[in-house]
Amino acid sequence: MEDGILPAHVGIIMDGNGRWAKKRLQPRTLGHRAGAQNFRTIIRYASQIGIKYLTVYAFSTENWSRPAEEVGALLRLFKDYLEEALRDFMDENIRVRFIGDVAAFPQELRELIAEVEEASAPKTGMVLNLAMNYGGRAEILRGAKAFAEDVQAGLCQPEDLTEEAFDRYLYTAGQPAPDLIIRPSGEQRVSNFLLWQCAYAEFVYFDILWPDFKPQDLDRAIEIYRSRQRRFGGV
Ligand code: FPP
Repeated sequence: MEDGILPAHVGIIMDGNGRWAKKRLQPRTLGHRAGAQNFRTIIRYASQIGIKYLTVYAFSTENWSRPAEEVGALLRLFKDYLEEALRDFMDENIRVRFIGDVAAFPQELRELIAEVEEASAPKTGMVLNLAMNYGGRAEILRGAKAFAEDVQAGLCQPEDLTEEAFDRYLYTAGQPAPDLIIRPSGEQRVSNFLLWQCAYAEFVYFDILWPDFKPQDLDRAIEIYRSRQRRFGGV
């Protein structure tokens, strides 16, 4: 990675595991396994090059509609990887946070999620947001409800709600908005990912399936990001 300004916050939609497996005439779950392996490689690399915040989309609120067998396999994979994360991300000074409605997951997974968050809370390096049972619209509604409750409780007034104030009601409260969002696999859509936060993000799409996405592809996305002129609505 050449020297230059790094995006502070990068988002990645890890897409294409199913197609990766299909190309190899393998079950989709094998693609998820390869995707999870790659997830570890890319997390490490992002942390090493100095990315401060990384948000990865691991499971959307819509993913429950997949066949039960695939959902079950994904949940098992999360459990295995969180157990490993407890061991290895710890050495890398990575703080792991979960964004999304994790209350919907089985108890064993919820306990592991709480354990990982607690164990990594003192870490001072990269913040890794794992979006699990996450949906951007659901996040905005959740924030709106929490604000309404605060108004009802007399803690604030409707006119206190500014864009900055609303930030505090999001899962990503206090974090910078994503500068760069990468979506491999060839799909060019946002799929309910960080809807509020992505207002001024640069999007980079690659025709690579997630298990094949390499550290050099992250470098390449950052180069593209640097080559763009961000105007934030100005001229
Ligand atoms: C999208 O590919 C991918 C997912 C729905 C799951 C992403 C999960 C991982 C990469 C596992 C690693 C995560 C953790 C936290 C251990 P797809 O199935 O939609 O692919 P397709 O579009 O080719 O069918």
